Amino acid sequence: MSVPEALAFDMYGTLVDPIRIWKQLERYVPDEDALRVAEVWRQKQLELTFRLTAMERYEDFEWITRKTLDYALAAAGQELEADQKDVLIAQYNNLERFDDVDSGLKRLKEAGHEMVVFSNGTPAMLQATINQEGLHQYFQGFVSVDEVKVYKPSPKVYRHVADRLGRPIGEVRLISSNPFDDVGAEAAGMRAAWVDRSGGLFDPLGSPPEMVVETLTELADALEARRR
Ligand code: 2OP
Repeated sequence: MSVPEALAFDMYGTLVDPIRIWKQLERYVPDEDALRVAEVWRQKQLELTFRLTAMERYEDFEWITRKTLDYALAAAGQELEADQKDVLIAQYNNLERFDDVDSGLKRLKEAGHEMVVFSNGTPAMLQATINQEGLHQYFQGFVSVDEVKVYKPSPKVYRHVADRLGRPIGEVRLISSNPFDDVGAEAAGMRAAWVDRSGGLFDPLGSPPEMVVETLTELADALEARRR
């Protein structure tokens, strides 16, 4: 039997669902716009992380999240009061978990894997999400890209998480539903598992990693099978 692995879990899209915030958006924007605003918000948020990284400039993820909420609202012809936007930003730290998260993480923890959250989120956002979602019971802690002030998929962030875990990069596995994150991690020399929450649509820049699962319980099965 091989030793348990070091697993670094992406947060947004893998553990919690940033799109389901459309349910909160429905309080302030017409129902038919809410989902679209949530999607544009997320898309633009990631776009800014990529562009800032290309420009060698850094603004933290909360700043990006606020700016891109304004953008997504404006794109839908909507404008909200400052306090309404504050409610939505606060809600960003209380996004819904995917249904398989608790059962999957429980099994992975019982199997003895070393587990951390590894995300673009600021330390304050990650701490709040971990607390509100009751995720602290599963994780040894979190690693925020804010510690190196550059975003995924810069190889610096993947090297950083390996350093923080005190392991060679090839001994750490990224668990992410975001294909760009899996491709970036593998390019930096990390292992990866793609949690396919999108129905099979991967990224044109690379191929899916050797481990593809649809849920974290399937991930537990796949890692268990590997240890037999
Ligand atoms: C995360 O780092 C990429 O949003 C994703 O949590």
